[in-house]
Amino acid sequence: MEHHIRYDAAQRALILLDQRLLPTRQEDFVCRTTEDIVTALQVMVVRGAPAIGVTAAWGCVLAAYEAAEAGDHWHPVLDGLLERIAAARPTAVNLRWAVDRMRKVWKTAGHAPFATLISLWESEARRIHRDDIEINRAMGRHGAALIDEGDTVMTHCNAGALATAGYGTALGVIRGAVDAGKKIAVIANETRPFLQGARLTAYELHEDHIPVTVACDNACGHLMRKGMVQKVVVGADRIAANGDAANKIGTYSVALLAREHGVPFYVAAPLSTIDRNTPDGDHIPIEDRTPREVTHVGDTQITPDGVPVYNFAFDVTPAALIAGIVTEVGVLRAPYTESIAEAFRKAGLE
Ligand code: MRU
Repeated sequence: MEHHIRYDAAQRALILLDQRLLPTRQEDFVCRTTEDIVTALQVMVVRGAPAIGVTAAWGCVLAAYEAAEAGDHWHPVLDGLLERIAAARPTAVNLRWAVDRMRKVWKTAGHAPFATLISLWESEARRIHRDDIEINRAMGRHGAALIDEGDTVMTHCNAGALATAGYGTALGVIRGAVDAGKKIAVIANETRPFLQGARLTAYELHEDHIPVTVACDNACGHLMRKGMVQKVVVGADRIAANGDAANKIGTYSVALLAREHGVPFYVAAPLSTIDRNTPDGDHIPIEDRTPREVTHVGDTQITPDGVPVYNFAFDVTPAALIAGIVTEVGVLRAPYTESIAEAFRKAGLE
């Protein structure tokens, strides 16, 4: 599944499979302007940290075309549009990472004419897009070794092909194990309130004929106590320099239950999700989304009028609960401050 994010140069459009409608409807959402990109990110037409980064990179190209309409003043206009994209969602660091990469190309190009910038940016966005798939496949190869024949692997949210340019991070590890010939099964936690697990993880694994069962989020303890879960693998939206990892709300509870039941808990994420400028999990901004996602299921109201709700979209799992972080350069182990620094050195990112 690699066609859910498509750039159409002729139409100057980014075409996104609208993930709000899955699994029952497959419809595209076409972005032509910066505002379309920001809306797609905020209402979660596209979601998942690496997919957000890829979308943002293409969004910069659309923003450049838009800024060109300002004539000679396109520089400050473009600067403002890029900041608007980078600020669309706060937690997934891949969003700002991708915009920063595009900005770096712009800076290197100096006072190059507009047409040159467009050409450089289309190449850079394509590179970010293609590299993401390769990075996920590398994570899949490294992570496959952590999964044993016959395991049932629990995952939370959707860290699959749909959350990336293709193959997935946590689901990349699962796909890597399957590609290595291991017979495994998956439990997809439904992931209230947006239901990424029930709708998206179940959808893409079922399409790939990987056995998947959906469980309510609150079944996790029972399933682990019954010995029905051998490993947990999740993705991440931002990993701090010390290894604390922000992921979809509920992940922390899964990690605590995993420790209680002796189930290894792994995080799979590319180095672009590791933010070494964030010292620890307490410094990761947590998105607070609209109450309506909690008060309603579809159009049906499920809470009484006037009762407030919490809708924090992410939580932080402390590094101490994480058995390993699967990256494109290998599986990192505690102490994470050291292993993360070493991984960045190995990848030439210092
Ligand atoms: O709110 P979402 O759906 O963007 O949150 C997504 C997650 O929490 C994923 O687990 C994470 O981004 C990793 S995606 C490979």
